[in-house]
Amino acid sequence: MCGALRASDAGKKAVLMGWVNRRRDLGSIIFIDLRDRTGVTQVVVNRELNPSAHDKAEQLRNEYVIAVIGTVKQRDRDTVNKNIPTGEVELIIEELRLLNESKSPPFLPGEAILPNEEMRLKYRYIDLRRDAMQFNIELRHKVSKAIRDDLSAQGFFEIETPFMTRSTPEGARDYLVPSRVQPGSFYALPQSPQMFKQILMISGFDRYFQIVRCFRDEDFRADRQAEFTQIDLEMTYPQTDTVWGVVEGFLTAAFKAAAGQEIKAPFPRMSYDEAIKRYGNDKPDMRLPAMVDVRAALMPEELDELAGKFRMRKEFPLQLIRIPKAGEISGTERRTIGTYGAFQHVQGPSFVQLMTDPKRFAKDYPAPSEKVQAFAKIEPDDLWLLAGAANHPEKAAVMDQRVQHFCEKCGFLRLDLAQKYASRHKAFEKTGDPAKDFRFLWVSDFPMFEWDNAEKRWNPAHHPFTTLHEEDMAKLEANIDSVHDPKSPLGEIRALAYDVVLNGTELGSGSIRIHRQDIQKKIFQALGMSDDEARARFGFFLEALEYGTPPHGGIALGLDRIVMILAGAESLREVIPFPKTARAVDLMVDAPTPVSEAQLKELGIAIRKAQE
Ligand code: AMO
Repeated sequence: MCGALRASDAGKKAVLMGWVNRRRDLGSIIFIDLRDRTGVTQVVVNRELNPSAHDKAEQLRNEYVIAVIGTVKQRDRDTVNKNIPTGEVELIIEELRLLNESKSPPFLPGEAILPNEEMRLKYRYIDLRRDAMQFNIELRHKVSKAIRDDLSAQGFFEIETPFMTRSTPEGARDYLVPSRVQPGSFYALPQSPQMFKQILMISGFDRYFQIVRCFRDEDFRADRQAEFTQIDLEMTYPQTDTVWGVVEGFLTAAFKAAAGQEIKAPFPRMSYDEAIKRYGNDKPDMRLPAMVDVRAALMPEELDELAGKFRMRKEFPLQLIRIPKAGEISGTERRTIGTYGAFQHVQGPSFVQLMTDPKRFAKDYPAPSEKVQAFAKIEPDDLWLLAGAANHPEKAAVMDQRVQHFCEKCGFLRLDLAQKYASRHKAFEKTGDPAKDFRFLWVSDFPMFEWDNAEKRWNPAHHPFTTLHEEDMAKLEANIDSVHDPKSPLGEIRALAYDVVLNGTELGSGSIRIHRQDIQKKIFQALGMSDDEARARFGFFLEALEYGTPPHGGIALGLDRIVMILAGAESLREVIPFPKTARAVDLMVDAPTPVSEAQLKELGIAIRKAQE
């Protein structure tokens, strides 16, 4: 391979095949950088030694495919290329064969400057030849292999489940596949194998996993694709700890095998409530310190004074947000932070009130300033500010909302600040440095239901097969018919649901499941689903639950997301060989496309005109 030869190979004969990465024609000598997946070797064609090979080499262009036979020669000391592993040698050619020509590509794999992403996706086969993409795809392979090996060793069987199936309960839109033999009927592509994996538990396969493609028609972002891959698993008789141990096992193995990264397990754990209160977010980025409610550091009269002066509500947390070692910031920057509208997520008439200028604050309120700094352990180099809930009388309606909303706003501000001052904060440097700071976390006890303001109803926060804390059962029963009441205590019920989070990204979600049909029925009832409706959607599943279902639980992690973070990439498209754009288009194959009238007819489908 083109990355294999070393000084110790000097004098040996070698055959190399690959692409012409670059050709330098010095007249009587032509240098070719020959490239394959493993690297580049310098090949030398000398007119005097080998006129016929030299004639052929003169015709070569970038990305031509050639085979060469030659002798490995150690380079003179002053021509050694220290930047590549083969840099101490070159191959002196005896024979050169042209295996294929190439049109002049729209961009070159070796070019430092990337073309725009559309071009990269349209000519994905050229883009994938680039070092960075070859690295990412290899990394992906290593991660999935390590996970497969580890889960197999932990007693899991990899079992396939159907792609042409029924709608699953994940809550996004389905991709549908029309049936030819039953015109008017459709399969749904699975949003996850959720029901099948639970059925496998009922079927006696006590430990299942699958590295599996899932399909969701939703709004796409940098960390979402229409087709993505889950590491999906399920097991019988687990405590949450059992599931977490399995996940910690395979993640540790994968980070080690694929990237040489030692990660520490068990991961820290935190309840959903704590995550919201201290990080303003259900997927806290632990590379940054938590927010600190500094009210406890102040005397009641100090708090009163600040509340009055800054027009804020003292019943709400007074959050100190700290970005360590972000250093001194200029007055202009401070004013920008003051106008929190400048930040991506905290726009509009916010009810976050800021005291942004620590210097001024220290001057005006020396005692409180010292106390809150000591309380939050502020270091001299830290950027920090205080955020309180604004007390504008005209925003009374907003004020009525929960503290949670305020904390979430503060959480966004915290992340925006970190983003903005990223370059100064080591953990956030985007260097692709392998010695990265990986902070895993378990977040547990999510709410069972979440209020959907558009539909004015409670929906499952995870999915409707998730079980609840036993002590919340009475609350469920007492409020079982309040699906349209936004004030219903349904919002207080806690689920045995958990997420694994890495550096502020949700890697995976799972739960302990309902294994009894009577409880499952109650959940459907609480979700406002009639018996008939539940039977129509999940009938087979409800029936299966009646045949001796063992307690079970599991989780699914996004493989693409794991590889993205390991690769230091900004988008899932960097780690998926053939991804789709934000509009779910594959630019290379040009899909989706209209189909022929004959195909539609066969399927019994007519296309509505746009204006209809
Ligand atoms: P959930 O819907 O939370 O849970 O998905 C689990 C994980 O899959 C990844 N993921 C995605 N990755 C890329 N693009 C997407 N569109 C996308 N959607 C989800 C995320 C997410 O954390 N059946 C349940 C799991 C269970 O309960 O066992 C489920 O699918 O990393």
